[in-house]
Amino acid sequence: MRLIVNGQEAEVDVEGDMPLLWVLRDELGLTGTKYGCGIAQCGACTVHMDGLAVRSCQVPASAAEGAEVTTIEGLGTPEALHAVQKAWIDEQVAQCGYCQAGQIMQAAWLLDMSPDPTEAEIDRVMSGNLCRCGTYPRIRAAIRAASAAMKEA
Ligand code: FES
Ligand code: FES
Repeated sequence: MRLIVNGQEAEVDVEGDMPLLWVLRDELGLTGTKYGCGIAQCGACTVHMDGLAVRSCQVPASAAEGAEVTTIEGLGTPEALHAVQKAWIDEQVAQCGYCQAGQIMQAAWLLDMSPDPTEAEIDRVMSGNLCRCGTYPRIRAAIRAASAAMKEA
């Protein structure tokens, strides 16, 4: 089947019920997207599909056929980081780092939907992305910083 991942066409030979997470990681080598729980409970596997944040452990490959998928590898480039990636570095958000690709993809989607989110919106949209290291205060600070930077741009 044919997918569009990070702006490039990719052809993969997989069963339609294979989770998109494994297509990305095992077939396309995009290992930035992480496996946490496999049951839609942690957000580590969050990617964008046609502009929505989705949990790739729950999306069958067949549902992603023809869709535009963006992973952490395609959100920005080292030369032109996405505002959320830059804020994450500036705020030194990551601890072990395992949950962070999912956090960044969820936060980028939040700011797409709501460029100046309220505290309640941040709570609602980010609360399903778990961080065992407890980086939540820095995640919130980075979202605020990215929002401010995007307003200035
Ligand atoms: S691995 Fe998909 S939500 Fe946890
Ligand atoms: S930084 Fe370690 S799980 Fe979030």
